Amino acid sequence: MPRQRRHLIGSITASVPLKLTSEYIMDPEERIKELTELINCHNRKYYVENNPEISDYEYDTLLKELIELEKKYPRYKRVDSPAQRVGGEPLKEFKTVRHRFPMLSVDNTYSPEELLEFDKRVIKLLSKKAEYVVEPKIDGVAVSLIYKNGFFIQGVSRGDGWQGDEITANLRTIKSLPLSIPFPSTIEARGEVYFKRKNFELLNQEKKRKGEVLFANPRNAAAGSLKLLDPTLVAQRPLNLFVYAGYLRQESKEHYQILQLLKKFGFPVNPHIKLLTDIKEVIGYCQKFQEKRERLDYDTDGMVIKVNSLIAQERLGATTKSPRWLVAYKFPAEQATTKLKDIILQVGRTGVLTPVAILEPVELDGSTISRATLHNEDEIKRLDVRIGDRIFIEKGGDIIPKVIKVVKGARTGKERIFKVPEKCPVCGGKVYRDAEEVAVRCENIRCPAQIRERIKHFASRGAMDIEGLGEAIVNLLVEKKLVADYGDLYYLKLAALVSLERMGEKSSQNLSESIEKSKKRPLSNFIFALGIRHIGIHAAEILADRFSSISELRNAGLETLSSFSEIGPIMAESIFNFFQNKESILVLEKLERAGVRQKSERGKERKRIFSGKRIVLTGILESFTRSQVTRLIKDLGGRVTSSVSPKTTFVLAGKEPGSKLERAKALGIKIVDEKEFKNLSHLVGG
Ligand code: IVH
Repeated sequence: MPRQRRHLIGSITASVPLKLTSEYIMDPEERIKELTELINCHNRKYYVENNPEISDYEYDTLLKELIELEKKYPRYKRVDSPAQRVGGEPLKEFKTVRHRFPMLSVDNTYSPEELLEFDKRVIKLLSKKAEYVVEPKIDGVAVSLIYKNGFFIQGVSRGDGWQGDEITANLRTIKSLPLSIPFPSTIEARGEVYFKRKNFELLNQEKKRKGEVLFANPRNAAAGSLKLLDPTLVAQRPLNLFVYAGYLRQESKEHYQILQLLKKFGFPVNPHIKLLTDIKEVIGYCQKFQEKRERLDYDTDGMVIKVNSLIAQERLGATTKSPRWLVAYKFPAEQATTKLKDIILQVGRTGVLTPVAILEPVELDGSTISRATLHNEDEIKRLDVRIGDRIFIEKGGDIIPKVIKVVKGARTGKERIFKVPEKCPVCGGKVYRDAEEVAVRCENIRCPAQIRERIKHFASRGAMDIEGLGEAIVNLLVEKKLVADYGDLYYLKLAALVSLERMGEKSSQNLSESIEKSKKRPLSNFIFALGIRHIGIHAAEILADRFSSISELRNAGLETLSSFSEIGPIMAESIFNFFQNKESILVLEKLERAGVRQKSERGKERKRIFSGKRIVLTGILESFTRSQVTRLIKDLGGRVTSSVSPKTTFVLAGKEPGSKLERAKALGIKIVDEKEFKNLSHLVGG
């Protein structure tokens, strides 16, 4: 977000007087210090206090002067230099850091009655009444911020509550986060990083333009941004912060006071926080705030109620999960009622029929909703939902809302019970239901809906990434019977493309080129594109790592496939079945003939890496059975022998090894443990 342009009104009253660029001689160290403090001060006025005192032009002039001076005199650059807000060097990975105090979670309540119960418990344990601080519960991402000698030195994500990722550089880009504070001891502040609703919309619009996957909500946008390894990219995301706790025990024994101190230090503290003396007032405030929350420019999912006295907090203590001195009052999710006009079945690429609710359009949380998910047949039965019913829909964490319940009292008797048809609504093929599966499937592998979905998946990002092959064109290609599977894409003639509605000469040429280009995609993309059931991007990457070509993968036995710890038995079976299937074999042949790359780029070096090697096994391995590891070694060209001899290449020793280990040591034969073996066979991290 660009700084909003504003003219200078009135005089400059920032605590540090403004000095414009000087021709006068000034000690550069002094000037760097002065500029740093001045810019940080104006930054706070703008981003934390919402009360700017200089224009953007003046701000930028000061920053420019500082950047130039820092470049000339890097030794004087300060830890809290505002120049760092633009990002920095990308990281390879985040360091894991243990929290000084665990970041526990909060117990949830959903009704005023539950809040009264919470108050009763507190009074009982303290033997007296307690004052409460009530705070909006910001729907973002929790972070811990460490300051030493007045400087922000480390920021950590919540992680699992005990340890998190060090995301200092990413947090430095947040404009409302103070890089220095007027408090010299070491302190830890905790707060919530969030995305404003408006900024979230803008970010998603931009992502849509670029054809990228959208964020489901502002919280996911904040979490996704903080996970980026390149702080320069984070700096382009307008993240915000509210601080809701500070370890400042020496300074005050009251939480509310501590929040005031944090505010004084320059931290952004939410303006709707209230100190209240009675639980009834707390309930009243929570209810009043609930009406206000829609008008705020950030998401809140409830209120947090905290015992104000730190001494009382200490006496109340915590369970292993959460402190007893605080509780969250969660707002109910946004709901709306509307009429269920119809239930249709969508056919996915694996033939699964998913029921979708077609609704009379209704406003919900700022958008018009005309479809909602019903998941599967069991869900329809559980809800006892009928076509024509008045229903409640709710927006959860996902973009697509779901049907929550039926207003049974509004039934007229004309409602129709939905029955999954015996035949596929698209191709008329037989429909069946797996014994262990909730899903209903269309059996016909030639079902046009399945064909369309498989091709769309094949062409999608992360798969073959065929630019220009969108939904409309795929539908036309299938409808006109120009393709019957994704293998046919590589045999499409330019003339056929031009003959399609709305396809000009130029766009046909472009599409043809992008289809051609896709032949060179990495093996992992190719495996993912095949659309093997249960094989997502992650599994495809693992397979591409372990196998150097499609033919190697095709020839792998079930045992080899399930020898990789990330590939479970269901996945292994699915891969195995895919390559046995007649239809798949035909399509794979088409792809091979068309020249679609079948091998991993580093295929040769990986192939048969144990060729000519003799390996002896001893002890118990954690991630393989004996037969799995034997098969793997064989697949990679090696031989497993039963006794150690001078010809043995290495001994693979697990836990509780036997006498073979001693013999290997005596003969000076290399001993390899399980971890090293995985490295050798490219099973890293498995
Ligand atoms: S106090 C023991 N105060 O809500 C945890 N949390 O569901 C103390 N949150 O992890 C947290 N606004 O990320 C607290 N004013 C607020 C909050 C808040 C948002 C988040 C925080 C926490 C989660 C718990």
